[in-house]
Amino acid sequence: NWTTGNVIEEQVAAIREQVGDKRAICGLSGGVDSAVAAALVQKAIGSQLTCVYVDHGLMRKGETEQVEKDFVAATGVSLKVVDAEQRFLDALAGVSDPEEKRKIIGREFIRVFEQAQAEIVAEAGEHGGQPVQFLVQGTLYPDVVESGGGTGTANIKSHHNVGGLPEDLEFELIEPLRKLFKDEVRMVGQELGLPEEIVQRQPFPGPGLGIRIVGEVTRERLDLLREADAIAREELTAAGLDRDIWQCPVVLLADVRSVGVQGDGRTYGHPIVLRPVSSEDAMTADWTRMPYDVLAKISTRITNEVADVNRVVLDVTSKPPGTIEWE
Ligand code: XMP
Repeated sequence: NWTTGNVIEEQVAAIREQVGDKRAICGLSGGVDSAVAAALVQKAIGSQLTCVYVDHGLMRKGETEQVEKDFVAATGVSLKVVDAEQRFLDALAGVSDPEEKRKIIGREFIRVFEQAQAEIVAEAGEHGGQPVQFLVQGTLYPDVVESGGGTGTANIKSHHNVGGLPEDLEFELIEPLRKLFKDEVRMVGQELGLPEEIVQRQPFPGPGLGIRIVGEVTRERLDLLREADAIAREELTAAGLDRDIWQCPVVLLADVRSVGVQGDGRTYGHPIVLRPVSSEDAMTADWTRMPYDVLAKISTRITNEVADVNRVVLDVTSKPPGTIEWE
């Protein structure tokens, strides 16, 4: 008989048994799966767990704070935050090609994570503590099936799961969500007392805003896109559309400029694309027929409040032929 209570009890007992008095680490991405996996392991082994969060500077507004404050407050987990913004910006300088961006972000992420991991392992040893022997992963049932089956799915984009790691690791894995689907994971997270904003989070790509800037990624462009994205999210939430929309990427066309007029001056700014989609599983999607007044409000606010943006456009392409993300 499936209840969230049973799942939690069963997993807590299994994790305690598996870990004993050793230590575990877990990478947090800000997403639902890693958060729930970490909370579950934290419930089982408490201070024997350390979480690592790599801030690559490609996060949306408030995301890092959400992990640093809300997640820690809800779980009491011990968290190591690595500020790696400059490192990622340096690595991405001059790069516009989407696949190249994805590879760079994936590579840098793994390097930073491994370094943090090595530091935690060394610190545990230094203090005469038990060695770190386990790595927590938020693998879900569909992930297991997909990687096991793997038949005939064309690799369209090199998907990089922040939290995903190389195979030559000397850690044993703890995967407490292996038998669960996404909606079940959300229920478990809720039962564990995680904040609504984390548990009900819409999908967000590991490479973050880095693949939502068409053109080179710079700090100025990231700041601009972060503002526009925050406005769109705020208005979608205010309109009560979060559950109807699968996700709504907000994209900056950094290499495009168009003429506008504001006050009594001519402007020459960038367009922002809104990409609201409806979907069951992200394999296919349709563009969401959103209320015009909500679109109007988002457009007015973005053009008024975000410097250098003088046009907002709506993406009305289904998937296929378009993908959900622009890169
Ligand atoms: P596309 O753009 O391929 O996206 O239609 C399908 C879904 O996957 C998300 N996405 C990613 N998620 N790492 C992730 O964890 C990635 O590199 C990545 N790329 C795309 C996208 O947001 C959508 O939900």
